Amino acid sequence: MLRFLQKLGRAGFELLRRPMSRVFAGDQNPLNHLGALTIFFFWIVLISGIWLFIFFHTSVNGAFESVEYLTRQQWYLGGIMRSLHRYASDAAILTILVHIIKEFVLDRYRRNRWFNWVTGVPLVWMVFPLGITGYWLVWDELAQYVAINSAELMDSIPIFTNAMAGNFLSADLLSDRFFTLMAFMHLIGLPIFLVFGIWLHVFRLNSPNINPPRRMMAASLLCMLVLSAFLPAVSHDEANLAMTPQVLNLDWYYLHIYPLIQLWSPGWVWVFLVVISSLIVLAPWLPPAHKAPVAVVNLDNCNGCKRCADDCPFGAVQMMPRSDGLSYAHEAVVNADLCISCGICVGACPTATPFRARSELVPGIDMPGQPVAELRDEIRSTAAMLVGPQRVMTFGCKGNRSTTELRSAGAGIIEVACMGQLPPSIVDFVLSRDHADGVLLLGCEDGDCNYRLGAAWTEQRIARRRDPHLRRRIDLCKVALGWQAPWCDTNNASDMHEKFKDTLVTSEAVDSQIANGVPASSS
Ligand code: HEM
Ligand code: SF4
Ligand code: SF4
Repeated sequence: MLRFLQKLGRAGFELLRRPMSRVFAGDQNPLNHLGALTIFFFWIVLISGIWLFIFFHTSVNGAFESVEYLTRQQWYLGGIMRSLHRYASDAAILTILVHIIKEFVLDRYRRNRWFNWVTGVPLVWMVFPLGITGYWLVWDELAQYVAINSAELMDSIPIFTNAMAGNFLSADLLSDRFFTLMAFMHLIGLPIFLVFGIWLHVFRLNSPNINPPRRMMAASLLCMLVLSAFLPAVSHDEANLAMTPQVLNLDWYYLHIYPLIQLWSPGWVWVFLVVISSLIVLAPWLPPAHKAPVAVVNLDNCNGCKRCADDCPFGAVQMMPRSDGLSYAHEAVVNADLCISCGICVGACPTATPFRARSELVPGIDMPGQPVAELRDEIRSTAAMLVGPQRVMTFGCKGNRSTTELRSAGAGIIEVACMGQLPPSIVDFVLSRDHADGVLLLGCEDGDCNYRLGAAWTEQRIARRRDPHLRRRIDLCKVALGWQAPWCDTNNASDMHEKFKDTLVTSEAVDSQIANGVPASSS
């Protein structure tokens, strides 16, 4: 059932991704920065919230007036800030929702990724009360509706014993103290927990992407400013506990749960929320995922250089004091509970070089499922099948769309778990030993690396901005990356890149590739 949902979701996600990647190239695609965008929206919420708080009256009688003042008299700043506060909060719900769907459909939530997934759930439980208490503070008719229904919801939990709803039965009982409690939760309590929750959510990741690209931030802020200017957030009429509000414009981002309270009983709404949350929490183990063999350190070849630890996207490699008496200070140790079997550490290891004699080709760190020695053999057998004037050796990430399409079209392609698994010396080996005239690396679409940092590290290693880097004797123009612009636009590599770009989408172009030197499937 879950597999079916994932497949369905992936098809839907592709429908969204394709037009998005046409409009936003590579790094500028919001779908690659959903967590970071959410954090950016929280920044906007925080800054605009501070402004609103300066003018806000934390009392039942003063709240509505103070928000009206901000919206109408101070529309040029307070009104804009209020609207920004609202739109950024709404946008955060959208990005969170797409973030969850994306991680689920792309299967990035199971195995050792369960931690990020599970710690995401309490974040949702914090974000919704944040929005709900925000609506409450305006103290208009919508706030009254929210307050009464929330109180019913709380009262259905046995420990509250009808105390909260009583607060809203009449104006006399509604105290400023209670209102101050809501303000405290909205302004201080929940935000503090949220910051801690976000830290917990990402702290195990290496270099978590918490800031979207600047252009994306500027563009989204501009959109919200325009929206705020032309469609400002406004209040309903002031709350009146003597009357029942007639017309309510419900916010469907935060308040969709309230109609359910009227439809079902508050108790059933709780059951619904708890069941949904529990299912989401348990999803990584439904069913338990098969775990691929994790990276293995070979101490005889590890010099403790730390590159594997620096490059592992999941913080699975730690540098520990040397245990084997060799003169190096440190050795790499893999934490099997964190390793996701991406192989990126192998691409980072300077000892993972195919130039060594066969008997010696055991790098400091290697993947038992596809050791570097085996990769070298695969390169040799693939090279023997390459024909034509422009022989291109293609490497592709396992299971990604371009690799699968090329493979099913019959093209020979060497598959690796992640492009970051390829040490740059492999590219050097292919070209300097004349196994091919060009190398094409096909990473995940739009640079949205399945293992977070594989595409980025590969780009930097090939561009000689990160160690281990591609040696200078290799002409960069003979190397093309399938997920980004070619290195230079005047020679073979750009032609090769252009041609391969086509092969990703048309089988006709794949045929021409095969005719031009990509081997028939070597499997
Ligand atoms: C306040 C809401 C949230 C924020 C701000 C947030 C933010 C982030 C950030 C910044 C990352 C790191 C991205 C990267 O560098 O690759 C991340 C990863 C992740 N998030 Fe969230 N997240 C939120 C909610 C959630 C929720 C509700 C879930 C799921 C229930 C979730 C699941 C995940 C998973 C599975 C990853 C790991 C992805 C990977 O390993 O490639 N997140 N999140
Ligand atoms: S295989 Fe990937 S997750 Fe495991 S240690 Fe190497 S880089 Fe880290
Ligand atoms: S990159 Fe290789 S040599 Fe360096 S610490 Fe890691 S395993 Fe050892």
